Amino acid sequence: MEIFKFSLLALLPFLLLADVAWATGDDMRTFIVHVQPHENHELETADDRTAWYKSFLPQDGRLLHVYHHVASGFAARLSPRELDEVSAMPGFVSAIPDQTYTLQTTHTPQFLGMNVQQGVWNDTSERGAGVIIGLLDTGIFPEHPSFSDHGMPPPPVKWKGRCDFNGSVCNNKLIGARDFTAANGTSGTPSRVPPVDDAGHGTHTASTAAGAVVPGAQALGQAMGVAAGMATRAHVAMYKVCLETDCAGSDILAGVDAAVADGCDIISMSIGGPSVPFHQDPIAIGTFGAIEKGVFVSMAAGNSGPNARSLSNEAPWMLTVAASTMDRSIRATVRLGNGLYFHGESAYQPKDSAAVFYPLVYSGASGKPFAEYCVNGSLDGLDVKGKIVLCEFGLIPTIFKGAVVQSAGGAGMILMNQFPQGYDTLAEAHVLPVSHVDYAAGSAIKSYINSTANPTAQIYFRGTVLGTSPAPSIVFFSSRGPSHQNPGILKPDITGPGVNVLAAWPFQVGPPSAPALPGPTFNIISGTSMSTPHLSGIAAFIKSKHPDWSPSAIKSAIMTTADIDDRSGIPLLDEQHSPANIFATGAGHVNPEKAANPGLVYDIAPGNYIGYLCGMYTSQEVSVIASRPVNCSAITVIPDRMLNYPSISVIFPAASNSTMPVIVRRVVKNVGEVQSSYYAAVDMPESSVPVVVYPDRLEFTEANQEKSFVVLVWPRQSDTRVVQGALRWVSETHTVRSPISVTFV
Ligand SMILES: *[C@@H]1O[C@H](CO)[C@@H](O)[C@H](O)[C@H]1NC(C)=O
Ligand SMILES: *[C@@H]1O[C@H](CO)[C@@H](O)[C@H](O)[C@H]1NC(C)=O
Ligand SMILES: *[C@@H]1O[C@H](CO)[C@@H](O)[C@H](O)[C@H]1NC(C)=O
Ligand SMILES: *[C@@H]1O[C@H](CO)[C@@H](O)[C@H](O)[C@H]1NC(C)=O
Ligand SMILES: *[C@@H]1O[C@H](CO)[C@@H](O)[C@H](O)[C@H]1NC(C)=O
Repeated sequence: MEIFKFSLLALLPFLLLADVAWATGDDMRTFIVHVQPHENHELETADDRTAWYKSFLPQDGRLLHVYHHVASGFAARLSPRELDEVSAMPGFVSAIPDQTYTLQTTHTPQFLGMNVQQGVWNDTSERGAGVIIGLLDTGIFPEHPSFSDHGMPPPPVKWKGRCDFNGSVCNNKLIGARDFTAANGTSGTPSRVPPVDDAGHGTHTASTAAGAVVPGAQALGQAMGVAAGMATRAHVAMYKVCLETDCAGSDILAGVDAAVADGCDIISMSIGGPSVPFHQDPIAIGTFGAIEKGVFVSMAAGNSGPNARSLSNEAPWMLTVAASTMDRSIRATVRLGNGLYFHGESAYQPKDSAAVFYPLVYSGASGKPFAEYCVNGSLDGLDVKGKIVLCEFGLIPTIFKGAVVQSAGGAGMILMNQFPQGYDTLAEAHVLPVSHVDYAAGSAIKSYINSTANPTAQIYFRGTVLGTSPAPSIVFFSSRGPSHQNPGILKPDITGPGVNVLAAWPFQVGPPSAPALPGPTFNIISGTSMSTPHLSGIAAFIKSKHPDWSPSAIKSAIMTTADIDDRSGIPLLDEQHSPANIFATGAGHVNPEKAANPGLVYDIAPGNYIGYLCGMYTSQEVSVIASRPVNCSAITVIPDRMLNYPSISVIFPAASNSTMPVIVRRVVKNVGEVQSSYYAAVDMPESSVPVVVYPDRLEFTEANQEKSFVVLVWPRQSDTRVVQGALRWVSETHTVRSPISVTFV
């Protein structure tokens, strides 16, 4: 399982070369073709539509997917000459070459305050009851007890989906299962291939979102406890769109199309890709169609942190989910020959690994290319037999490094962070004794190796430790804002648990020699892939409590109630243990209990997104996103900062010498006590930009009553290019908090 995308960077030059070859050859390539019928061209049925799509193509066989619900068009394999012909036909709007997206890869319910004994989460019968979560992923292992339907009612009558596993594998928990990976999922001619999960990722995310309660969960004997999804009563539908770690944009769009048609309430995608304009992004296009039909969309922010502007999935109609740590460590401690010791982590903790000292070697000292990363072949010819090898984080997945050390005869591996990973360590199912240590520890170990003729070390295992700190903190790999496509919308939106998450897995993990404990199989993995289904399940819980809330109201509830402090009461930290900024945390760490009762919500009608999109794109580009003709000259443009978003981003252009304030308008709806009174509090750093809210009091006398206000932000150049703070609306019972970011470009 590759959870980090380092290899993708190495592949990029190759992909560019492939592009050039295509333009000159006769090779077939997959395109998503967007088309729009003329007004007098009636397409009444799905068959009419399919027939019309086929009329664009030279031969039937080329059609991979037809889109009916969230896009107007189809995916097909075309040669360059055929593409020219298709482009010339009436109704053609655009053709986008298919892109590859990648996956962004229990203790969590308790960590999130969802104690079975107390608070709103105590009523297990309500946790997501009646709500359907559709996951687009690698498939599912349906026999896992996390998908048992014990005590589950049948799906709501609106459910129209199907299950392509044979026999009675689906049940009232797993209600839908289909495969859309292109060769198998041709729409129109149902192939009914079961969406078997060969990778494990889809089984893990589905059980995180809505898995049943399974006592005695563990991976390699660690993280023992009760496994439960966030919404234990929600139904699950799996749409397989990924093979291993790769997911084609055309398959994803087909999966979203089906999930919306089937009646899913929530779409959960732990998938990320390149940042491209929304009208060229099948995920943005498909999810816009979903949101228009009232479907909530939860998306991974990506694993490309900690660099700025590394986000994917930036559209304002998505919930963009960052990842953070929990207060659990699966401890593997390194002791050096000089007596110094350092705590690290590993999920594989062999009992027979006697605490003996082994010779210690730093592979990077050899000077061989990439030996410090312990990539395949880099240890050849080095004397590492029977030694513990110090390897550095990066280039390849860490479990692979362990395998390289093992096949070179190494006794164990100390995996050290480089500077960007800071203090964060991962507990993974390694194949030999390993301790993943932070950058400071790794640097000290390196100096020790350099300081002595015969360096030695031991790794000893301490099991699962709870109550570690800081927690939560933003993890290094969590992608950061500001948004590339639109800095006027703050992204990410929220963070949730995404480090060392235990959830269902189709098969045993760790080395083949590890004793298989009885009971179902689980795995501990990390990624924004893991935080995303947490938020999907929490959205399902809120939806079951408030069935009439729109996707944007649910999103507002999640964002405005988020925690901005960690468990010890200090502001959330990042991987360097510095205060994390809003481009890392979004609104903060999700607080499910508070999110179910936010007091006020910032709602957005789907039509408002059209005005917003017209501020960014041409009519034709907006038409592709909306899957219908849009004339931007005939509608009111909504500047990005005026979209009724639950956070605020103001950008002052560099050239402007204006001393006038920027005006941001917002509308809040009362979903709390009927009679309630809120006052505005502005938290901005001392002597930074002046921010004023008018009016600064809001009185509500009715349920669902709406009140508008404006926020005035004055430009005041300071040393800092970015100033961040918050607006809070405070009543006796609620605090409704919106982060504010002010940027001088
Ligand atoms: C659930 O929590 C509520 C609020 O804390 C409490 O009043 C109620 O008694 C709890 N119910 C159960 C079954 O524990
Ligand atoms: C489904 O069909 C395959 C192939 O016929 C068979 O091997 C498998 O056992 C079947 N599974 C179930 C659950 O019936
Ligand atoms: C199609 O399904 C078959 C049988 O399950 C599988 O072996 C094959 O890899 C699938 N191909 C694609 C592209 O999904
Ligand atoms: C190891 O020691 C040598 C000589 O003392 C020094 O030049 C080198 O930079 C050191 N390397 C590391 C990795 O500390
Ligand atoms: C778009 O709307 C404008 C203003 O209403 C109108 O003048 C123009 O003809 C419209 N364009 C199209 C292509 O309908």
